[in-house]
Amino acid sequence: MNADKSIAVDDPSLIFPIKDILKPLPVPTMFPREQPVELELGSGDGSFLVNHAECHGDRNFLAVERLLGRVRKLDRKGRRRGLNNLRILRIEAHYLVDYLLEPECLEAIHVYFPDPWPKKRHHKNRLINERFVKSAARVLRSDGMVWLRTDDADYFEQMTEVFGASDLFTAAETPETLSSITTDFEAAFNRRGIPTLRSAYQLCAG
Ligand SMILES: C[S@@+](CC[C@H](N)C(=O)[O-])C[C@H]1O[C@@H](n2cnc3c(N)ncnc32)[C@H](O)[C@@H]1O
Repeated sequence: MNADKSIAVDDPSLIFPIKDILKPLPVPTMFPREQPVELELGSGDGSFLVNHAECHGDRNFLAVERLLGRVRKLDRKGRRRGLNNLRILRIEAHYLVDYLLEPECLEAIHVYFPDPWPKKRHHKNRLINERFVKSAARVLRSDGMVWLRTDDADYFEQMTEVFGASDLFTAAETPETLSSITTDFEAAFNRRGIPTLRSAYQLCAG
């Protein structure tokens, strides 16, 4: 994989066209090589995932983002780096996890700086809630990981509460090798001196 590669006209797009939203996605066959799959929900411009995917050629990565401009930017970044282990989906994150993924198809889910919806009446729009914990447990393999980051202390508390209340997951540490790969939003928070919070949860075996 070549970091300085410019995009050739015939480089295929990394955006996977979802042709039928009523059928589960053929995740293993979306990539040239069948290998463990990690998912990032709300990838934004994709700085985290292109760097992470470049470090782990032995895994496949799915990026999910609903904004077309960000999807296209991530596509350009991934193609420039020659990443053949990355595919991008333009779709709503809950719908994908609940309806388009087969059970136990993922090794890990990354959710970094999801929209915080700070007003109490909008908390119902947050991605990470009790429902998400159950959805994540369905699509992860045994021992699979959920990696979370946020700058919002109240949302962090909600993340900790919903995963802490579940007997499906146990709390884990985020290794430095992972936390050192920052996201676009995280880099902006770091520049402004805004502290960020991380947590991680492992699906219990069986
Ligand atoms: C605050 S940004 C963080 C982006 C990136 N994770 C980062 O840390 O730089 C949240 C991103 O999630 C996307 N997003 C929010 N809700 C979503 C949803 N329900 N489905 C798919 N994408 C979503 C937004 O469009 C936005 O790009």
